[in-house]
Amino acid sequence: MQPSRQHIHTEIIKVHPTQPEPSLIEHAARLLRAGELVVFPTETVYGLGADALQTAALERIFVAKGRPFSDPLIVHIADEASLERLTTFIPEQARRLASAFWPGPLTLILPRGPRVPHLATAGLETVAIRMPRHPVALALIRALGSPIAAPSANRFMHVSPTTAQHAYTDLAGRIPLILDSGPCEVGVESTVLNLRTEPPIILRPGGVSLEALRTVLPDVQPPRQQIANHADQMAHSETSAQPSPGQLLTHYAPAIPLLLYNGSVEAMRAAMLLEMKRRQEQGEFVGVLVADEDVATFQGSGALINTLGKADDPVQIATALFAGLRALEDAHVHVILCRNFGDHGLGLAIRDRLLKAAGGKIIDV
Ligand code: TXA
Ligand code: MG
Repeated sequence: MQPSRQHIHTEIIKVHPTQPEPSLIEHAARLLRAGELVVFPTETVYGLGADALQTAALERIFVAKGRPFSDPLIVHIADEASLERLTTFIPEQARRLASAFWPGPLTLILPRGPRVPHLATAGLETVAIRMPRHPVALALIRALGSPIAAPSANRFMHVSPTTAQHAYTDLAGRIPLILDSGPCEVGVESTVLNLRTEPPIILRPGGVSLEALRTVLPDVQPPRQQIANHADQMAHSETSAQPSPGQLLTHYAPAIPLLLYNGSVEAMRAAMLLEMKRRQEQGEFVGVLVADEDVATFQGSGALINTLGKADDPVQIATALFAGLRALEDAHVHVILCRNFGDHGLGLAIRDRLLKAAGGKIIDV
């Protein structure tokens, strides 16, 4: 009898992050060629990769993640020439963005070329394409000789993995191989930019900031205001085409409730302390997700404190964000109280991910 695909052995192999060993990359490429899945590092988060041109392999991605087929995948390439084979038209804007930000954490939405399987694009006539800058990702795409379709390597509705261990926690027993090159540098996913609209609009803020994009295309628009209320969300999606499937706030259901505070630093701390005490009196174990500067406020309070870095350093905060959320989750806190970190640079992506973890609600204090 064939072993059930639900219980396959998952191997973790350490790969050098900057000089990947060719034999290990070839091992992974062979699996991909055979239609299997491989978890690999990118500079943003770990990806769950399949050969983008094999429909049966793509199907396995959705099964392994428990992800609905309505959520399209990003196709990863290693050179700009591959762009020609995946899309029917490359706007001048795409060329300029590619030369400024590729390889890197920017995903461009372009017209789908006929070779791209419908499963990769959820039936859309557009395709999401990005050239990652992680040497292991690039080496793997080159060794396969085909683009790699990859969502983040987490179970559907869970936080993206920034270490191989995170991916193992979510996908062990469902995939044959994880390439481990240590923690991801950026820590939040790529910026998804729609070039099919005029002006171009950010569908998901990510590793390339709005400010950076505007140095190349000054009219790039920030993501549309997100709507917390589900009814509003539905009404909204009826009046306008769904901009990016999978970007609905209800797409994310945090394992643990998260309350996101916004206001002056003093007001946020005071409101979080108050809520912490109220919860502790009810016997709850409270986790707080804060900046280094906030630690003194919560020390000795009985709350589990997770610090992400200096409040004014969004690059550092972004790198630590998902591991921080997972650490509090692993400690089985009942609730996570989290401060806002502003919206400059990567701050926009950080706030987007926290807002999703908070079910779209922000508590203004
Ligand atoms: O950094 C990243 O982007 C990581 C690494 C692995 O590259 N990947 C990632 O993939 O975050 P995933 O599947 O978790 O998120 C892809 C996002 C989804 O929000 C999806 O809706 C959007 O890209 N997307 C994909 N194709 C699209 C399309 N044709 N039109 C609009 N949005 C699209
Ligand atoms: Mg994802």
